[in-house]
Amino acid sequence: MKKIIESLQAKFKEFAPAISLSIAVTLFAVIVANLLYQPKKMLKRGFQIELSVDGKPVVKKEEKAVDLATLMKSADLDRGAKIFKKCATCHTIGKGEAAKIGPNLFGVVGRKRAATSFAYSDAMRAKGGSWDVESIGQFITKPKDFVLGTKMAFPGLKKPQDRADVIMFLQKQ
Ligand code: HEC
Repeated sequence: MKKIIESLQAKFKEFAPAISLSIAVTLFAVIVANLLYQPKKMLKRGFQIELSVDGKPVVKKEEKAVDLATLMKSADLDRGAKIFKKCATCHTIGKGEAAKIGPNLFGVVGRKRAATSFAYSDAMRAKGGSWDVESIGQFITKPKDFVLGTKMAFPGLKKPQDRADVIMFLQKQ
């Protein structure tokens, strides 16, 4: 038994340098490989094609950058009134009507910001200035972008024509 162990030990001693050398070589190779193949950041080049659920490429319609003033010229008052229903959850529009979750909007186009007796947010009070077509347009695109910290919990109207129509409606009141 002892002999066997001794001979194994002898064999091990014989091969030890070879074994450690091969381990060292392997480790070195792994480290070098890792250094060389660090994932490169994806280069954004050419087209990014979005695929819809069925795997077909989504064709994005370019939203034409038509300015609000132009859209207002062809704005539809009846459509505006319909769109205002979204606002009417929080806003009244008739003269002298009480505020709801938001202030009354009668005559808001041209009115000073935070001008009614409504409990406006500090952000809105601090904004200053008056509401014109352009700034209402910006505000209702994404309220939180135009007045950071506003109380108006409304995500915004994405479609430029919707904004034009509803502003037309506001203007007529
Ligand atoms: C979820 C409720 C809610 C909805 C929906 C909503 N608003 Fe408001 N709105 C508010 C609140 C609250 C304020 C007051 C904001 C503040 O003080 O920061 C406000 C303020 C405003 C103001 C400024 C009024 C002023 O006196 O300075 C305008 C203009 C306005 N909203 C337009 C709209 C329009 C147009 C829509 C529909 C497209 C709309 N809001 C939808 C709650 C709402």
